[in-house]
Amino acid sequence: MFVKRILSGVQPTGDLHLGNYLGAIKNFVALQNDYECLYCVVDLHAITVWQDPKMLAQHTREVTAAFIASGIDPDKNIIFNQSQVHEHTQLAWIFNCVARMGWLNRMTQFKDKAGKNKENVSVGLFAYPNLMAADILIYKATHVPVGEDQKQHLELCRDIAQKFNNDFNSNVFPIIEPVIMKQAARVMSLRDGKKKMSKSDVSEYSRIMLSDDVDLINLKIKKAKTDSLPFPSNLNDAQKRPEVFNLISIFAALNNSSPEQVIKKFNNSELSYFKNELSDSLISTIEPIGKEINKLLNDKNYLDSIISTGADKARSIANPVINEVYNKIGLLKT
Ligand code: TYM
Repeated sequence: MFVKRILSGVQPTGDLHLGNYLGAIKNFVALQNDYECLYCVVDLHAITVWQDPKMLAQHTREVTAAFIASGIDPDKNIIFNQSQVHEHTQLAWIFNCVARMGWLNRMTQFKDKAGKNKENVSVGLFAYPNLMAADILIYKATHVPVGEDQKQHLELCRDIAQKFNNDFNSNVFPIIEPVIMKQAARVMSLRDGKKKMSKSDVSEYSRIMLSDDVDLINLKIKKAKTDSLPFPSNLNDAQKRPEVFNLISIFAALNNSSPEQVIKKFNNSELSYFKNELSDSLISTIEPIGKEINKLLNDKNYLDSIISTGADKARSIANPVINEVYNKIGLLKT
């Protein structure tokens, strides 16, 4: 009864890394061929922690450019930024009144981000998953491509949709399905195979950025932590070596293969040979995207026109939904 519709979002908190690309954006590109897709630069999520006002707009354009440079067609899909479509925040407030404190208290990402500083972080950081549910459900999206770290937030989105439908005896919202890539659901740090690759890691050598040039990619892969054992000969052995397994998984994701196939291909090779091949694969994928991002960033008017057209298209879907929700709740429409 719901049209299959895709929505996902990426925060404009600086340059994007390989985890964002392999875990999410590569999937966005693939899905555009078969479905109606909305891809959102979630600037309101970014401000749940302090952002430099001089940089935020620039970062919003950077993520927009990264979407297009990675192959998302702005004519075929809706690319926009969250803060221009007010219906997101209207629905988010309603979800603040639907979601339960206990549900949000269980969110592991909040616990990780707040750490020992729980009393001092913004209320927005705590309520963040409600806004995320609103981003999705304001379009009645049915499928959400994300990396594995967002899975718990999507479960909460399902709970919110279910509770809203029950509370108002309706079937307004679909119960969404996460779409998680098999190979790169969780790209790990190049310095520690047990930690997720992330923007916030202090070591630049922990991540490959979409803006990295050839020399930097070669250097980061050369320095990537491994061990002194030979290249693993089977999946079982590989999985016991988190850093090596992460590199194998990255190679597999870049080449649309599986870790098993990569292990077979490099069986009996030196780790250094594998690392060189991995660098080459990364360079052939990342370098053209980085160059295209820079080219697009030089054309601010073009990027702004994409964002503004995208917001118009997004509003035309979101507005009837917020009206339907107001009606169900008993809020007067203007
Ligand atoms: P964000 O901006 O942190 O990350 C954007 C996307 O990249 C994925 N990702 C990873 N995937 C694999 N390995 C990694 N190391 C890695 N790091 C990041 C994330 O899973 C995500 O898919 N809350 C979201 C943004 C958001 C959203 C939404 C997503 C807001 N509203 C609605 C989907 C639908 C976030 O902070 O993503």
